[in-house]
Amino acid sequence: MALAIRLHDQYDLHDDNELRQDVLAGFAASPKHTPPKFFYDRRGSELFEQICLQPEYYPTRTEEAILRRAAAEIAEIAGPGASLVELGSGASRKVRLLLEAMRPASYLGIDISRDFLLSSTHRLGADYPWLEVHAACADFTRPMSLPADAIGERPLAFFPGSSIGNFDPQDARAFLENLHALLPAGGGLLIGVDLVKDTRTLEAAYNDRAGVTAAFNLNLLWRIRDELDSDIRPAHFSHRAFYNEAQSRIEMHLASPRAQTVRIERQQFHFAPGETLHTENSYKYTVEGFQHLAGTAGFAPVHVWLDDRELFSVHYLRKA
Ligand code: AVI
Repeated sequence: MALAIRLHDQYDLHDDNELRQDVLAGFAASPKHTPPKFFYDRRGSELFEQICLQPEYYPTRTEEAILRRAAAEIAEIAGPGASLVELGSGASRKVRLLLEAMRPASYLGIDISRDFLLSSTHRLGADYPWLEVHAACADFTRPMSLPADAIGERPLAFFPGSSIGNFDPQDARAFLENLHALLPAGGGLLIGVDLVKDTRTLEAAYNDRAGVTAAFNLNLLWRIRDELDSDIRPAHFSHRAFYNEAQSRIEMHLASPRAQTVRIERQQFHFAPGETLHTENSYKYTVEGFQHLAGTAGFAPVHVWLDDRELFSVHYLRKA
């Protein structure tokens, strides 16, 4: 039986201009950098799923444990008839914990990776036949508009995984403001936020022994090689991740151990020995620091759940 997933397309994946433009501009900048959203082609999304299973990468399993424990309370706060809107739905595993407890009126998954989005929403539709499932292929780092029937009347936006940490604080605020504009009055936001903690735990999470995070980081260079006209050689770069305490963020880089020149399209880019391409920031917050940030975007705290070791937080906020 064909499942009825309603797809609302907002993102032109065939616009490889975006990859080209951002990569060329980022390589020409000083320091060199690229936006983390380009990690997530199909292979990158699969590697990210593998990262989540690594013993050192505590955020996923910690957040899942929090959600499992808090699901009934979350359902109670959301109330009957709420709908769920998942941002960056990926494999949609965490949302299953909520679906069972909430039994929402509808579910909308939003993701930039269309393939991944379609396969995960199809699986959800098959596993929860009572659920009205919508999918929107969209870049939620930009302002977006979504049809009212996809959002429902009483939406609870769900943004797990501390993906908010991949925005710089001013972009995080702009993102929360966009989301605020998208939600009707009284709309909720359930958001997972990784917490500030000791450097050893943080750095281990981004330097797993199996090398999956390294492969995820290097996949960006494979994408450049495969999708753009480039002679870049991923083997000539190495993964580097460290905690920048002053900025409360993990930084991921691709380091060039030796001097090298790479060509992308018609441009040449020189790397000095040890120079890096900065590929990602992952900001860590205190509970109060995040509540303050959300407050500046118009969200009031309703409840926050932490694990026993206070590694991770899940905030329920409401559009004030
Ligand atoms: C998706 N995001 C929250 C992950 C993080 O922890 O910042 C991406 C990631 N990068 C390396 N490992 C995981």
